[in-house]
Amino acid sequence: MKGILLAGGHGTRLHPATVAVSKQLLPVYDKPMVYYPLSTLMLAGIRDVLVISTPEALPSFRHLLGDGSQWGIALSYRQQDEPRGLADAFRIGADFLDGSPVMMILGDNVLYGSGLSNQLQRAATVTDGARIFAYPVRDPRRYGVVEVDADGRAVGIEEKPAAPRSNLAVAGLYAYGPDVVDVAADLKPSARGELEITDVNRHYLEVGTLEVEVMGRGVAWLDAGTHESLLDASAFVHSVQARQGLMIACPEEIAYRQGFIDRADLAALGERLAPNAYRDYVLALAASS
Ligand code: G1P
Repeated sequence: MKGILLAGGHGTRLHPATVAVSKQLLPVYDKPMVYYPLSTLMLAGIRDVLVISTPEALPSFRHLLGDGSQWGIALSYRQQDEPRGLADAFRIGADFLDGSPVMMILGDNVLYGSGLSNQLQRAATVTDGARIFAYPVRDPRRYGVVEVDADGRAVGIEEKPAAPRSNLAVAGLYAYGPDVVDVAADLKPSARGELEITDVNRHYLEVGTLEVEVMGRGVAWLDAGTHESLLDASAFVHSVQARQGLMIACPEEIAYRQGFIDRADLAALGERLAPNAYRDYVLALAASS
């Protein structure tokens, strides 16, 4: 399975903070936001990832993440000229995917918690149909909302409904078979002029192949798309890291634990980092038994 990390958009909800810098490059506590969704894909075991962003921001993403080889993965880049909606990613990424199933994650989604790696790794085995991740939230109106029956089967899905039929928000993480490229190619823009991921998911619902994986209470899903949620995400990462002494979304660590790089690679990466707590963490991990 290949990965798509969608980090487009003008981040207008965060202006003026995002006039000169892409939202997904803003820090979530001590790391650029994009480290978190990239880490999620790496935890799923995905090593071939397309990063999609605006023409202005793409050079910064390249500068930050490089070709991925330092973390034992392959990163490619493609630009989205206009924000045409999330499902546009499958049009832009069609030749990158080249018939492969795909896991897509949005660049402002932070996921963390127990049991998540297993859910991710299971989703990475999807070869057809669709699997989405749902999460109970207090105010679902800001999100895609999925309704499930008593057996956990999806029975309805809506984008930002005024009167949500459930409290299950659809997280910005999706796994699809290769036909998602054809589904996206056939989509018509919504009333707001975007190719909606919710319309892609509704297609799979209608043909009976939409699976919903509900994330449990042991998982934190934070989207860092507003000032408040960004602050919350930073505070959350700080609290957990300060308490445990373990980092959330350190690609060097994940690459090492996933076996994408070996201990010598990790030590060499650590040596190249700027002298600060992040470097100390990576070097301590490389020196641990
Ligand atoms: C997008 C999707 C929505 C999903 C959300 C998750 O909304 O359209 O279905 O629930 O991401 O973060 P956006 O935040 O782009 O408005």
